[in-house]
Amino acid sequence: MAVNLRGRSLLSLLHHSPEEIRHLVDLAVELKAAKAQRREEPFLRGRSIALIFEKTSTRTRCAFEVAAADQGASTTFLEPGSSQIGHKESTKDTSRVLGRIFDAIEYRGSAQSVVEQLAEYAGVPVYNGLTDDWHPTQMLADVLTMVEHTGRSAREISYAYVGDARNNTGNSLLLVGAKLGMDVRIGAPTAYQPGAGLIGQCREIAEQTGARITVTEDPLEAVRGVDFVHTDVWVSMGEPVAAWAERIGLLRPYQVNAQLMAATGNAHVKLMHCLPAFHDTDTAIGRDLVERYPELAKGVEVTDEVFESPASVVFDQAENRVHTIKALLVATLR
Ligand code: CP
Ligand code: NVA
Repeated sequence: MAVNLRGRSLLSLLHHSPEEIRHLVDLAVELKAAKAQRREEPFLRGRSIALIFEKTSTRTRCAFEVAAADQGASTTFLEPGSSQIGHKESTKDTSRVLGRIFDAIEYRGSAQSVVEQLAEYAGVPVYNGLTDDWHPTQMLADVLTMVEHTGRSAREISYAYVGDARNNTGNSLLLVGAKLGMDVRIGAPTAYQPGAGLIGQCREIAEQTGARITVTEDPLEAVRGVDFVHTDVWVSMGEPVAAWAERIGLLRPYQVNAQLMAATGNAHVKLMHCLPAFHDTDTAIGRDLVERYPELAKGVEVTDEVFESPASVVFDQAENRVHTIKALLVATLR
C-alpha cells in the first residue's frame, strides 16, 4: 500500500512504520535533487507553520524556515519570552489557538508530554523539533546522510553511538536503527545507557526488522567494524552545569578521538554529530570547560582533530536537516 502521511504528526518515530520512515528519506532525496537542479516545485503555497522554540536552536529553526520558504509556505517563530505560552496560557489552550491559525506546528522544548498534548489538541500536524526524550527530525537527516555516504540501503549500514546515550539523540538513534533494520551499537556506561524499557522495545522491533542491537559499556566493542561513529554533547540543553563533573568523569573513555576511530578497523569510517559540538575553545562554554578541566584541551565529546578530519561528515548531516524537514512538511501538508 502506498505510504500516506497527510495530516500525521511526528512526535518520536515510535508510531511510524519502517516504510513511512523510508518514504520520508526517499522524498528528501528527491527534494534535495530538485532544489540542486533548480526545478523544485512549491507544493505548500499558502500554508503556514508555527515554530515554537522553548530551547535555543540554529539548525532546526533554520531548516524549518528555509524548507517552508522553498516550498512556498510561511513560518512564524515563537519563543517563550515573546508569546503567552507557558506563563499565561496553557499548552492545551495554546494548541487549540494555534491549530485554528496554522496548518502545522513545530515544537522544541523539554517535556515530551508537552509536544504530545499539543498534538492531541491542535487538530493539525505537530512536529517534535527536540524534547528531552526524542529528536526525530534529526534522525531523518542522519539516515539520509548515512545512506548518501555509503550508497547502501539502511539495513546494510552499521553505526555506533558513544557518549551520553540516554539523551534525545541516543534514544532516537537506537530507535531509528531498530526500525530500519540497521546494525546499531550503543557504547556508554550503564548509567548513561538508554532506559531498559526502550532497549527492550527496540529489541522487539529488531526481531521484526532484522536489526542487530548491541548495548555495551565497552567503547571499543561498540565501534568495531562500524561505518559511522556518532556522538553528541555530554550535557544537553536544560541540564544543570553541575552535571559536567560527573559526565566528564564517566564519559572520557567514550570521547571520539583518533584512537577510537582507529579502533573501528575501518579506514573509511565517518564521524557524525547532530551539532553543536564541543571540539575546540572557540565557544564560551568550550573555553570555560577547558579552564576547569585542562584534560579536555583537545576536545570534549569529540577531539578537534577528528572533527576537522576528512572522516567528518557533520556539515553534510547539518545540511540534510533542510531536505529531510522539507520532506516531512511536504508529506504531511501537501
Ligand atoms: N542538531 C540540532 O538540532 O541543532 P540545533 O540545536 O541548532 O537546532
Ligand atoms: N542532546 C543535545 C542535542 C542538541 C541538538 C541537547 O539536547 O542539547
